[in-house]
Amino acid sequence: MSGPLALWTCLALLAAAAAKPNAGLKTWGRFSKLPYPGDKAFLYDTFPKDFMWAVGTAAYQVEGAFDKDGKGLSIWDTFTRGGNRVTTGDVGSDSYHNIHTDLRAIEQLEVTHYRFSLSWSRIFPNGTRGSYNEIGTNYYRTLIKKLKERHVQPVVTLYHWDLPDHLQQTLGGWSHPELVGIFKDYADFCFQTFGDDVKYWITIDNPFVVARHGYGTGVVAPGIKNDPDLPFRVGHNLIKVRVLFILVSSTIPFPL
Ligand SMILES: *[C@@H]1O[C@H](CO)[C@@H](O)[C@H](O)[C@H]1NC(C)=O
Repeated sequence: MSGPLALWTCLALLAAAAAKPNAGLKTWGRFSKLPYPGDKAFLYDTFPKDFMWAVGTAAYQVEGAFDKDGKGLSIWDTFTRGGNRVTTGDVGSDSYHNIHTDLRAIEQLEVTHYRFSLSWSRIFPNGTRGSYNEIGTNYYRTLIKKLKERHVQPVVTLYHWDLPDHLQQTLGGWSHPELVGIFKDYADFCFQTFGDDVKYWITIDNPFVVARHGYGTGVVAPGIKNDPDLPFRVGHNLIKVRVLFILVSSTIPFPL
């Protein structure tokens, strides 16, 4: 599949958690009618020079290559095999194999920033440092380097819902307090490895969805439901992660 498709697919999937399929068409349809009478004044010269024009993706939605080059399974790889009516991201929009095409697409869009997420289990297949995967990590080194060459600033999400499945199986995922320290170690590694080139970090994408729909309604991975306490225990651990990063962020520049 082509590069631009990777980005569109992502936008469509990002909307999926909050809206009905195809709901995005309505949104885009509105813009197809521009300019409205009198709107012309707003169509140029309104944005500050340093406005961050960006597009964004999440690893599971676009990368594909779900078991390539030593990548471990994530909870989405197992969730989509569990009889849930969700399309798998085994191939996704195959950005892992089309990195250069996607980079060209980003350049064509003339954005100043590109937001993407790291697949934790591509870097640490079982979730912890001992399983470090050099090839998977190099994928992100290349991506970041090539973005910078094109003067596009990377905005890196550390966690966009794809927990290494091993941590789910052995510890119960985010419901276990140990996840806070395990995540910190993963994040420290990412800061050390990519920090020189990455000015903007996002800790956890939409923690509410992780807690409520991952461990409450079971609509997203890991698809756990029927324990009314669980979303709160998960939420508590996610908040601890967040607080931890606010505390350490005095030494690393990322937006709060
Ligand atoms: C993860 O994998 C590494 C390398 O195989 C191993 O040393 C480590 O014990 C594993 N960790 C867990 C928690 O299974």
